[in-house]
Amino acid sequence: MVVRPPAVTAGLRLDSLPPTMPVPLFDTAAPLAPLRAQLRAAVERVLDSGRYVLGPELAAFEEEFAAHLGAGHAVGVANGTDAITIALRAMGVGPGDEVVVPSFTFFASAEAVPATGATPVFCDIDLETFCVTAETVRAALTPRTRAVIAVHLFGNVAPVAEIEALGVPVLEDAAQAAGSLGAQGRPGALGTAATFSFFPSKNLGAFGDGGAIATSDARLAERARMLRFHGSHDKVVHEQIGYNSRLDELQASILRVQLPHLDAWAEGRRAGARHYEHAGLGELVALPRATPSARPAWHLYVVRHARADALARELARAGIGARPYYRTPLHRQPALAAYAPRAALPATDEAASTNLALPMSAVLSAEQAAEVTAAVASAGERR
Ligand SMILES: Cc1ncc(COP(=O)(O)O)c(C=O)c1O
Repeated sequence: MVVRPPAVTAGLRLDSLPPTMPVPLFDTAAPLAPLRAQLRAAVERVLDSGRYVLGPELAAFEEEFAAHLGAGHAVGVANGTDAITIALRAMGVGPGDEVVVPSFTFFASAEAVPATGATPVFCDIDLETFCVTAETVRAALTPRTRAVIAVHLFGNVAPVAEIEALGVPVLEDAAQAAGSLGAQGRPGALGTAATFSFFPSKNLGAFGDGGAIATSDARLAERARMLRFHGSHDKVVHEQIGYNSRLDELQASILRVQLPHLDAWAEGRRAGARHYEHAGLGELVALPRATPSARPAWHLYVVRHARADALARELARAGIGARPYYRTPLHRQPALAAYAPRAALPATDEAASTNLALPMSAVLSAEQAAEVTAAVASAGERR
């Protein structure tokens, strides 16, 4: 379909048009531009305080983030990968246990499991939502299953309640889903515990690495606090081998400036998805589908196309940021091959080979979405 105005396209082949507006894959700078003075003030506040680790900024951020999620507690840690390992251990996962985890996700979702001594068991996803379902999880359950990691992939909301109804605790990997909304609440407050990454490109991004664990179970939160500080509650007695994994004061102060804007940024991401729909992108590629009643804050806008790599090359020529994610799913990664499932994971393999992330940000405009859509249409004509 032709999405450029007729006046522009009249007499021209679409593919002969020069790119008029490059569109980056992410835009983390534009949303932060109006906050520069506040961000500087936050950094100055930390410098003036002389407290850099486990101080008042982290305590305040933990309280504010837990309130935002509707969870009882938040525990700041060094990154989203440590958050998963520590949360699993705080849930009691250890050697001899199995943890069900999707294969179509970032490596860290599964990498965190052997770090606890447990075994990852890979499950499939639903192709249209990219998330695990109760059915795909059920196929991977055994008597040794101790937990399920439900990844809210690309900002979509995995069906946590349906998975919990199988009788197994759920750890939400919400690294990509800050700002999303589900029917039962926000990702981060749906399962036994949840983990977040504040890597700079995330929906809520620090200026370095950062992460958090959220839970409404006070004892679980306390165990996570103990594990993030060398397995000690009081810094004197070390009860367990733990980690040195804290969200530092500078990152916490920066996140506190951003948190009040997260919902507006999430709306911007939802508007970006609507712009793509209105531009007719769905007639050219398979669009991601929100899970029932979910309002995803699309972290990545990932479409599917039979020749996704060729499409990505064409888009790059037109100045459009596009890249595939997780082309080699985790059960085919050398480091995890020992845990490869006996059964096939057909939706995982198809998602891995056909996906392509298109530009998405909190400020993606209708014009940008039209430009991307025109470039996708043009690339289709060229082939
Ligand atoms: C789904 C998912 N899980 C876990 C992580 C790990 O987070 P981090 O990079 O902060 O360790 C990431 C992000 O990179 C992610 O996208």
